[in-house]
Amino acid sequence: MSIPIVRTVAELRTAVAAWRQDNHRVAVVPTMGALHEGHLSLVRAALGQADRVIVTLFVNPTQFNNSSDLAAYPRTEDEDAAKLASLGAHILYAPDADEMYPQGFATTVSVSGVSEGLCGAFRPGHFDGVATVVAKLFLQSGADLAFFGEKDFQQLHVVRRLARDLDIPIEIVGCPTVREPDGLAMSSRNVRLSASEREIAPMLAEILFDTSGRLTEGAPVDDALATAREAIVRAGYRKVEYLELRGDDDLKPLGATDRQGRLLAAAWLGETRLIDNVKVMPVRHGSRNRL
Ligand code: PAF
Repeated sequence: MSIPIVRTVAELRTAVAAWRQDNHRVAVVPTMGALHEGHLSLVRAALGQADRVIVTLFVNPTQFNNSSDLAAYPRTEDEDAAKLASLGAHILYAPDADEMYPQGFATTVSVSGVSEGLCGAFRPGHFDGVATVVAKLFLQSGADLAFFGEKDFQQLHVVRRLARDLDIPIEIVGCPTVREPDGLAMSSRNVRLSASEREIAPMLAEILFDTSGRLTEGAPVDDALATAREAIVRAGYRKVEYLELRGDDDLKPLGATDRQGRLLAAAWLGETRLIDNVKVMPVRHGSRNRL
């Protein structure tokens, strides 16, 4: 079993037009390849809701603010294609950089508000790169639905905002983070961890879940976040880039757990930057402050 690999916008549009003749509902799953179980869960979700599924594979240079990160990004197209074929995805769209950004390319899509702070503060230009390539992938594929993981929670907000603001007729479906059995959020960057770092890595998720529970029990936000930052460093992470409580539905900073929130973190383990986030339920009536 194999999957057709399409390299140009024109070929992609021809294939989608033929599907449209048969009234097929089309989904797109944007990826940068190095597919793991997290990506495959998006493809399965897409296959459950659409008749035809396009998976895109493009390591987008404009969203990397660090050239060594771009150079080190894993590239495994043959393995990715085999995984997608066995799931039954319909097209792997893998354009090269000249197809995506032809000579003279001069447009940037920039989403304000939700792209500010968190990763946006530490990766200048990152979300402009993401928003620009995602807008192009939506317009190139003309898909009805697009699937993104909650692991990149700020990205999910950016993509929802851009589709709404640019009137792109596409439904954005957010899917839960897929975790390793020890709790580590799946990420293409996990392969860069050494054996000893891999043992420490799941502590980030463990601390986030624990802190989420404490917030819901009424712990003051500032105290709970300070304790969590210390715990992450004590666990063996080199540096906490950010750890913040934000509103789940609007990403606005939350000073109290009075509505559903998200605890979002980025931290460096050796030379690898990991991000994760967990939901925080509002303080229950009758909960007593534990601190
Ligand atoms: O999440 C990713 O892999 C990328 O940011 C995306 C959405 C494919 C855009 O390049």
